Amino acid sequence: MLGWINPDVSRLVGLDLAPTYSYTRIYAKGDVLARHSDRDACEISASVSIAIPKGGGPSVLHLRPPNLPEATVEMFEGDACVYAGTEVEHWREPFPEDGYIQLFLHFIDKHGEHFPELIYDKRKYLGAPYLPSVPPRKASYVREAEIVEVLESKKEVREQKIAVTLLLKGGYQRCVTLDATDPVLISLLEAVAKRNDEKTRATVFNLEIGNEEGSLVFAASDLVAVSTNPAISIDLKIENPEFEFSRVVKEDYLSKKDMAKLLKFVEAHAGEFRRSRVTSGVRKARRSLVLYDLGDFGEMFRERISSDLPAILEQLKIPAFPVSEIECQLTTHNNAHYFRRHRDAGARNAARLVTYVYYFHKEPRRFEGGSLRFYRGRLENGVYICGEADIDLEPTNNSMLFFPSACYHEVLPIKCSSGEFKDGRFTVNGWVRMAE
Ligand SMILES: [Fe+2]
Ligand SMILES: [Fe+2]
Repeated sequence: MLGWINPDVSRLVGLDLAPTYSYTRIYAKGDVLARHSDRDACEISASVSIAIPKGGGPSVLHLRPPNLPEATVEMFEGDACVYAGTEVEHWREPFPEDGYIQLFLHFIDKHGEHFPELIYDKRKYLGAPYLPSVPPRKASYVREAEIVEVLESKKEVREQKIAVTLLLKGGYQRCVTLDATDPVLISLLEAVAKRNDEKTRATVFNLEIGNEEGSLVFAASDLVAVSTNPAISIDLKIENPEFEFSRVVKEDYLSKKDMAKLLKFVEAHAGEFRRSRVTSGVRKARRSLVLYDLGDFGEMFRERISSDLPAILEQLKIPAFPVSEIECQLTTHNNAHYFRRHRDAGARNAARLVTYVYYFHKEPRRFEGGSLRFYRGRLENGVYICGEADIDLEPTNNSMLFFPSACYHEVLPIKCSSGEFKDGRFTVNGWVRMAE
């Protein structure tokens, strides 16, 4: 959130800002906020009203800028107030109801006295946890000897459990808990730090992931990043790895007969397709029509995908996972339709691991464009961001495409001169969700 909004707030206040930290607070009835100004990491702050309880009035913030009269700002859901937190005194009167939710976003001026010292509020990267009781740590641990030295010299560390998050190729993420002195920990850190070393790459890990879940097996070459809590920290700046996403295309996925039936089905249900929405709520991000009820085809696709899945996961380099659901929908893109760059596994849909798209349309094809553009992913100081455009895949009739949902992609605009429904670019598409 801080990263996304940083450019907008910078523009608004006319300063080049760097993010420090954010948090959310739910206020209870009677809560007050005493008159105060903020610490140095809050040079520029935005207070955003996220939720107002039923029957409650606006979320009210009082401000007193230096040498200016007091101001009162009333916020409704989605409103924000941006102010100089270290200069402007601010406070709140008792809240009239339970359940006001407010989000706080804090920034510093890149040309001010606290940059770069307070960037990310002295954390390693955005999203990194605050670690009040972390033992002193070295800047980076590349060599095994260094790691051993730190771990062994700290008794409290030796007895500590470390929560290790593993980011694997394909955008797959998994958490395991290890003892601080477990040699596997060092091997994991090494696998990232020495990713170009052939011997290291050949290591195969076999980690226990809980009492009944069995083990997680993967090759060191599939390990993209490791984060630990508390930090015994590998410096993520050592390398900013690129994610290489695999894709699988299966041609002639359905029999001619089934495909013809499917085309008939969409024509018969043309009137039931609705405008697509996106979970981000940004309507302009996408133009297409969607139908959620596929009749018997839903089951047919789910069964087929379930049986294809083990082989697909292997090709996508995604370790096997327990499936909770296979989402399935029919989508059509017609003239001037598109779907801007996005990924299917955002914060709200983290359980989506695999995206599938089955393409079908009338022959001969009566539209142009509509290729699926893939982007590489990149880790920048520990934050996953979109990289360069990778390739464009044309919608091939009767083909099925699988790719990791974490991968950024976009549907390029379509031109369909007749504009008729039956001439559109149709897909049966959806996501395989991991049980959480
Ligand atoms: Fe404050
Ligand atoms: Fe998508």
